[in-house]
Amino acid sequence: MTDVEELLLSRIRDVADYPEPGVMFKDITPLLADPAAFTALTDAFAEIAERTGATKIVGLEARGFILGAPVAVRAGLGFIPVRKAGKLPGATLSQAYDLEYGSAEIEVHAEDLTADDRVLVVDDVLATGGTAEASIRLVHRAGAAVAGVAVLMELSFLDGRPRLQAALDGAPLEAL
Ligand code: PRP
Repeated sequence: MTDVEELLLSRIRDVADYPEPGVMFKDITPLLADPAAFTALTDAFAEIAERTGATKIVGLEARGFILGAPVAVRAGLGFIPVRKAGKLPGATLSQAYDLEYGSAEIEVHAEDLTADDRVLVVDDVLATGGTAEASIRLVHRAGAAVAGVAVLMELSFLDGRPRLQAALDGAPLEAL
């Protein structure tokens, strides 16, 4: 494990039985409160953005906003929020996806992405991959390409990576 990986891991707090019994919640607020760790995370994401030739950063509500926005500033790229349905005022593209019980819907402003864009999708956690997969669909439907998906943590036992394989179409999934 690298020094950066060790630092990041040390600032993620495991909270048992939250938000419901049997779930181990990964709390990133200690990392956000530590400027050295938050800066190291931002630098690592920005390096991925540069390496993959990204032209825009897409952040997924809500923690992907916190992590993705400083990456966009650091990399000198625009930041595009993918929001839960009903929060964006302009013309949107919407994508529904299945949850364990029920479904959810996310949206992006259609005019924020163009055929010239290569998008790096940033979020805190890849779990089942449903949110990331729906985001990739949105990016493609907006006519843009996906440069990659970058997350702080991948919960590999939930099999998000194989689920994303087809949608990624060769683009990298990087978990720090
Ligand atoms: C969490 C997390 C990811 C998503 C991962 O967000 O921040 O966005 O779930 O899960 P998946 O891979 O199974 O789709 P959440 O839906 O809890 O929203 P929040 O950040 O607004 O609380």
